[in-house]
Amino acid sequence: MEDRIMTFMHQIPAGAPMDILLTEMNIRSYSDQTVGPECVRKLLQAAMAASSAGDQRPWHFVVVGDRETRERMADTHPFAHTLLQAPLAILVCGDPTLQKHPGFWVQDCAAAMENILIEARSLGLGTVWLRIYPIEGRVQNFRKLLDLPHHVVPFAVTPVGYPAEKSEPKCRYDESRVHFDRW
Ligand SMILES: Cc1cc2nc3c(=O)[nH]c(=O)nc-3n(C[C@H](O)[C@H](O)[C@H](O)COP(=O)(O)O)c2cc1C
Repeated sequence: MEDRIMTFMHQIPAGAPMDILLTEMNIRSYSDQTVGPECVRKLLQAAMAASSAGDQRPWHFVVVGDRETRERMADTHPFAHTLLQAPLAILVCGDPTLQKHPGFWVQDCAAAMENILIEARSLGLGTVWLRIYPIEGRVQNFRKLLDLPHHVVPFAVTPVGYPAEKSEPKCRYDESRVHFDRW
């Protein structure tokens, strides 16, 4: 099995979806080009197409274009200066009251976030996953800043914009992390 998989991997040329996955997902400098509403719609559609436990989709999304709000968001997050460069940001929130299987909202929101990042790349947009949950201070700050209901948890935020940096595809495949049949 192992030999077959390795041979298989070396033979297949990277197709379009793999090219997108290997392209740099973490963009930390953006041009001032605006992002159209149709792109935002596609990103949200991709997010909501994510798999979720029991198909409960326990998420909400806050699209933030307002610069003043992004400035205040950046003030509350040590890595969030990129929120000011890009023309907008998308905050992924979890709603634990919507879940059927307790505790899985985190994985559901991570899947939604990853779909945004991948769809953004396919549209030529840049993003970078900025963590909020489970850092309690950040959760409280974002909840307050964006008037989120008390039961809604700000999970992670990403700037969305056209990259000002060029990047080469990266391969992070690491054979030492792969195990066949048992560890
Ligand atoms: C759960 C999670 C949290 C992350 N949080 C941050 C963050 O707060 N700030 C940031 O700049 N990047 C964040 N990232 C992006 C990672 O730092 C990035 O994937 C990794 O450092 C590789 O970066 P590179 O592609 O630029 O080399 C996060 C990624 C994940 C999956």
